Amino acid sequence: MCGIIGFVGEKEAAPILIDCLKRLEYRGYDSAGMVCIDNNSLIIRKDVGKIEEVDKKVNFSELKGNTGMAHSRWSTHGKTTKENAHPHSDCKDEISVVHNGIIENYSELKEELVKKGHKFSSETDTEVIAHLIEDNYEGCMRGALTKALKKIEGSYALGVISSKKPDKLFAARNESPLVIGLGNNENFISSDVPAILNHTKKVIYLDNKEVAVLTKDNVEIFDLDNNKKDKKIEEIEWNVEQAEKQGYKHYMLKEIFEQPQVITETINGRLKNGDILIKDEIDLSEDEIKKIKRIIIVACGTSWHAALVGEFMLEELAKIPVEVEYASEFRYRDPIIDKDTMVIAISQSGETADTLAALREAKKKGAKIISIVNVKGSSIDRESDSTIYSKAGPEIGVASTKAFTSQLVVLYLITIYFGKIKGLLPKEQIVNRIRDLRKLPLQMQSVLDDKEYIKLHAKKFYKKTNALYLGRGINFPIALEGALKLKEISYIHAEGYPAAEMKHGPIALIDKEMPVIVIATKDNRTYKKVLSNIEEVHSRGGKVIAIETKGDEEVKKIADHNLHIPENSYILTPILAVIPLQLLAYYIADLRNCNVDKPRNLAKAVVVE
Ligand code: F6R
Repeated sequence: MCGIIGFVGEKEAAPILIDCLKRLEYRGYDSAGMVCIDNNSLIIRKDVGKIEEVDKKVNFSELKGNTGMAHSRWSTHGKTTKENAHPHSDCKDEISVVHNGIIENYSELKEELVKKGHKFSSETDTEVIAHLIEDNYEGCMRGALTKALKKIEGSYALGVISSKKPDKLFAARNESPLVIGLGNNENFISSDVPAILNHTKKVIYLDNKEVAVLTKDNVEIFDLDNNKKDKKIEEIEWNVEQAEKQGYKHYMLKEIFEQPQVITETINGRLKNGDILIKDEIDLSEDEIKKIKRIIIVACGTSWHAALVGEFMLEELAKIPVEVEYASEFRYRDPIIDKDTMVIAISQSGETADTLAALREAKKKGAKIISIVNVKGSSIDRESDSTIYSKAGPEIGVASTKAFTSQLVVLYLITIYFGKIKGLLPKEQIVNRIRDLRKLPLQMQSVLDDKEYIKLHAKKFYKKTNALYLGRGINFPIALEGALKLKEISYIHAEGYPAAEMKHGPIALIDKEMPVIVIATKDNRTYKKVLSNIEEVHSRGGKVIAIETKGDEEVKKIADHNLHIPENSYILTPILAVIPLQLLAYYIADLRNCNVDKPRNLAKAVVVE
């Protein structure tokens, strides 16, 4: 999962490529490179490190030319070395390639090409593409690229330039995201939309097995059988500011603080006069909804945690049995799906390879797919029968925050809608539940207003090496999510557990060095039991940080530290309870001087298996 960017126009390419590439760094950041065509020659500069570091070493802006490409790498095939950094070239340094994805049959292809005399200079799968194009070149670059693509198995978003055609930029895509940006006397290719928003809001989404030829004033798209395709030009609604930090130290912090606004956006236009208006977004008739006997939700990581909350919501209010599956596991089983099973895929990026593969597996078996996706035009969006957008806006921080809470809100909307269609929720209950939902933005803001208090707690715990997160019922997934946030950005080992499971093993870990974060919000289900769990931790010397309902005096008596959230209906507490956990993880990671927005070894969109 790398970031690729390409430019062809009248201006100097290098400064534009650097600007766009920096916005793509979240996709991968172990090495970076750039190529421009200067006086009919390809000039390449690349090295290991983050974009800024590489730029300092190689000075990208010295590259001259109006056609160029750049790449930020997250290693898959081949170590993180200068040689393996992109762009890669053919034997004669006339064809240059940047690539995101994995060429599965690269070793066979490489063997054949080596036999024919091609000389390789890297260990990457990508380099075979440059040599394959060279091998198939008979005067037409698009023809050579198309022939090469027919031999390739695997995923790719590709940018290709050649000193033989200095005014052209070629692109192709299969299973990895690639968008074409249409500017004024300039055109772009990019792994995602936010990277080019400074330059254009008009885009064309490339589909699988399509090849694009861009000049400064023209874009043509073909399939691999040379048929010209008519593609829709889309207008992007996000503005540049939405994709930038706006004075926050990190994107993650900005995104945490955006949540009240995001939730307002997510519900905007979907509620009216005590009713849920998502009928047009869900491509299912009332009859079809009534017939749903089972729902399977597939997702990964934080989106999987959202799915677990969704399971709780849907079973409780819509009375539909739900199974939540790790997409990566689901795709390799032989899941039983019948005509009454509906599949929901949840993904912020809409590009997660495992979720996409799970969706396809379910589709193959005849399931209808509804997706909850944040990025419009992403692969999951386009391959689903219908998509309900989470409307969180661009999420740049690698650790997902606002996308998570917006996914929960969409799951809640689906739940109420299904419950209504099935005749399970009387009008008055729907009105009350919508009223609860509308309270969320202000309530979230009040939690965010406690940031200094949460930061104080981060100061107490940032030197710890382990942490345990406990929750029950609908807040168990929030314990998982709190632990994931902490470990991925601060590198502190953390685990989430259902509070009652602690006595079956994890309690052995408790000593005075172990912070235990317990979601102990007031409810009439397991609250009292959670209080007992807190006592159990306390009596073994563990330090309890409780997430409690504002005004609750009982938790105060037994927990060592207390963070508060306002009261709302039980089913909506996860949306509030996760916020102090996001902030705690953020401040701890920042105090440890971690690279919060780009944690090591992670990438924003995991487009490889
Ligand atoms: C964690 C995180 C990841 C993603 C996961 C799925 O903070 O961001 O766990 O949730 O990689 O990504 P999407 O939602 O894009 O499918």
